Amino acid sequence: MTTIGILGAGEVGSQLARAAVAHGYDVVLANSRGPQTLSGLVAELGPSAQAAQVAEAAEAADFAIIAFPYRPDGDLPVEELAGKIVLDTNNYMAWRDGHYPAVDSGEKTEHELRQEQLPKSKLVKAFTHIQAPNLFRYARSADDPARLALAVSSDHPEAVELVTRLYDAFGFDTVDNSPLSESWRSAPGTAMWRFHDTGQRREDLVRDVERARRGPRP
Ligand SMILES: NC(=O)c1ccc[n+]([C@@H]2O[C@H](COP(=O)([O-])OP(=O)(O)OC[C@H]3O[C@@H](n4cnc5c(N)ncnc54)[C@H](OP(=O)(O)O)[C@@H]3O)[C@@H](O)[C@H]2O)c1
Repeated sequence: MTTIGILGAGEVGSQLARAAVAHGYDVVLANSRGPQTLSGLVAELGPSAQAAQVAEAAEAADFAIIAFPYRPDGDLPVEELAGKIVLDTNNYMAWRDGHYPAVDSGEKTEHELRQEQLPKSKLVKAFTHIQAPNLFRYARSADDPARLALAVSSDHPEAVELVTRLYDAFGFDTVDNSPLSESWRSAPGTAMWRFHDTGQRREDLVRDVERARRGPRP
């Protein structure tokens, strides 16, 4: 049994937990306020789910998901996540997060900054452009011509492979937009972002990722 440590149990973290449990994974969830605040969600998810402190969830994880915004002063469980693949769902939104000059100038992506915070982990940008409620609603079987695609970016091919398998199991095709330095191409404000509510099929997402232009972040 594979255990996913899900750090952040808001809109995205809780919905990814539902999808993971529905597809046969165990999950250990954590938020900033402590496991006692997650008892309702754990009860809903059933026996495959537990709540824990952040470091415990990271330690228990075969791979992990971070489902909260990047912060420069963020205190992440670096050692507990060492050697592990870590999916990052974050989208830098200046209106919410404030300005990060390195991202605004195009010097780095927010996911490169997160990789720097977790230097011993294999960071991968994933699930960033699907609204949490649509994770089940938009899922399609592999032979469905209407199947939608999701982008993935990482500096670690094995992390892209894991996310590709996960996307496939959850009902989505994959567009590989690696490495992390190129992940701005699927960021808010780019050509593909206009479709983040409706989703795009693989060929449309490939086209829009290729024609992305750098611009101000919302
Ligand atoms: N909402 C979407 O549909 C969606 C889709 C794709 C990507 N995203 C991106 O995914 C990220 C999460 O979005 P969201 O909508 O799920 O946010 P959210 O509903 O505000 O949830 C954030 C969660 O992260 C937890 N958290 C915050 N800091 C933490 C820390 N240091 N350690 C552990 N847990 C921490 C919060 O716990 P407490 O409540 O205890 O503080 C909360 O459970 C954002 O960057 C967002 O841009 C969102």
